Amino acid sequence: MAPYSVTAVSFLISFYASISSAQAITSCPSAETTFTSPSDLSYKSCPGTDYEGPTAQIVPNTANAAACVELCSNSTPCDKSVYDNSNKDCHLKASDTYGLRWTRNTRFTASRRVDVGNVGQWGPLINLPVIPVAAFVVPTDTNRMLVFSAWGKNNFGGAGGLTQFADYNWKTGSASQRQISNTKHDMFCPGISSLQDGRIVITGGSNAEAVSIYNPLTNAFTRGPDMKIQRGYQSSTVLSNGKIFTVGGSYSGGIFNKPGEVYDAGSNTWTLLSGADPSQGMLTPDHEGQWRTDNHAWLFAWRDGSVFQAGPSKAMHWFSTSGNGNISEAGVRDGANDAMCGVNVMYDAGKIFTAGGSQDYTDSPAFNRAHLISIDSPYQPATVEQLSGMRYPRGFANAVVLPDGKILVTGGQKRSLVFPDTDSILPAELFDPVTKTFRTLTEEQVPRNYHSVAILLADGTVFSGGGGLCYVGGGIGGDDRNCNRAVDHANGQIFSPPYLFNSDGSKATRPTISAVSVINARAGDSIRVTMGSNSKASFSLIRMGSATHSINTDQRRIALTDVTQSGSSYTVRLPRDSGVLLPGYYYLFAVNGNGVPSVAKTLQIRL
Ligand SMILES: *[C@@H]1O[C@H](CO)[C@@H](O)[C@H](O)[C@H]1NC(C)=O
Repeated sequence: MAPYSVTAVSFLISFYASISSAQAITSCPSAETTFTSPSDLSYKSCPGTDYEGPTAQIVPNTANAAACVELCSNSTPCDKSVYDNSNKDCHLKASDTYGLRWTRNTRFTASRRVDVGNVGQWGPLINLPVIPVAAFVVPTDTNRMLVFSAWGKNNFGGAGGLTQFADYNWKTGSASQRQISNTKHDMFCPGISSLQDGRIVITGGSNAEAVSIYNPLTNAFTRGPDMKIQRGYQSSTVLSNGKIFTVGGSYSGGIFNKPGEVYDAGSNTWTLLSGADPSQGMLTPDHEGQWRTDNHAWLFAWRDGSVFQAGPSKAMHWFSTSGNGNISEAGVRDGANDAMCGVNVMYDAGKIFTAGGSQDYTDSPAFNRAHLISIDSPYQPATVEQLSGMRYPRGFANAVVLPDGKILVTGGQKRSLVFPDTDSILPAELFDPVTKTFRTLTEEQVPRNYHSVAILLADGTVFSGGGGLCYVGGGIGGDDRNCNRAVDHANGQIFSPPYLFNSDGSKATRPTISAVSVINARAGDSIRVTMGSNSKASFSLIRMGSATHSINTDQRRIALTDVTQSGSSYTVRLPRDSGVLLPGYYYLFAVNGNGVPSVAKTLQIRL
């Protein structure tokens, strides 16, 4: 029966499994009633049944089953409730993560949300030891993410020479805190890019010259060579040749024109590219001045060492990274506005989705404007299509591309404002690049604005977290008594997109990848993928992400279209160009005919 606290979940599940005699059911044995809440959530109530398993909250003296469902619809997250008809208690059930059992029991009426197949479902709030201002997936151990803030778990200011991390395992829910001081690098506001061998290169930020390199195999950080130019709020991307390009970043390390430079992991050196000059059109005329104008470039590495810059400036550009580098025009994304801290993601080869942002970094109305951009040959103009626009304007939002090619946009606020949560947008949105439409999804529990992240996990769910972090003028040990802790969000939630559910709200059956012939491959190779069944599947590779400040240049999805099927075995030819299939670690997903994704296998792409 129902009244358990979530604190003793594992004990209770095993306890219950051993004493419950009731047979689990999969459909309602009697007539169901439908309930639509004032906020348009839809539920079905099944009299004479119970959800056995942990209860998050009990509300006594509830009038009837319909009132209990309404209470559930007003709580986040609550997708299932059980009404006790004999003592009038309403049990708001804990997340399905804990495996509720549906059983017959005449004493109860069990109600479930049935529109999760349309709007998705947020899991319970996950508390973390630090505010996840930045996050990356550990390439060789995809159950883990490393998240980090600054020298403080909830504070930043000055160059602290150390960084607070948390090592979070989304599979087990465990999170441990970790202080990284050996690289003498306060990694707040950095560029982040992953190398082909899975090492994560974190550049600049509060210690603006410094470079820290995380090795997933040793789980250790080492100091890399300093950049030629000090930077903060620069972006970086791995290139088709495996090197890393970075540009801009006047937020820290001095306010001046900051041309690009390239890191070669082989020689462990940086080379300045004086011709890759952001002043030739990439700057946004920010109302706070030059330190904001070269921030967070939307960089997409492409063929032959080229880099396409899609924003945040209205004008788009190509960077060449050979010789001294250069910059050339690629057309105009948006004739009306720049889009600082808008979202941008390559959802298929050469296809880029962009949305939101604001004209100025802060204190500036956010846009709902959205575009699809296509690129093909380097240094040629891009093609731009303006979309109907997101349902909500969003500044400081995040975007994640899903295995089926749809794009999830989470968080943000109607007016970009560091740091308050004013006018936060809690519902997520899903963009379908085939129908070119946006769909509103269910609401997140916590605002996710400035300093928030979102990142795709290997099971096709999405981690969304962070927001806040207080500026302390004196740096480490400074006076933080005036910090507004109400906007600090040292937590996250995991979103299960609609594709994980059937139309009646039950969990969809997922396809399984039982084997992949290789653990690493090169662009152009054929690989063999064995599925758990003969039914039709399509495949995509999604490069594992690293996110901070609405930027995730590591993320990219490439649909695998050169496929031949023989029973449950597929031969998949990878794209031939390393500028399309950038080196590094990818999730390999299969998606079945109903649009349901598998859990990913890991595939490393080498040069
Ligand atoms: C930039 O460099 C690339 C690659 O070397 C070259 O193809 C292109 O013509 C150059 N563009 C300009 C404007 O110099």
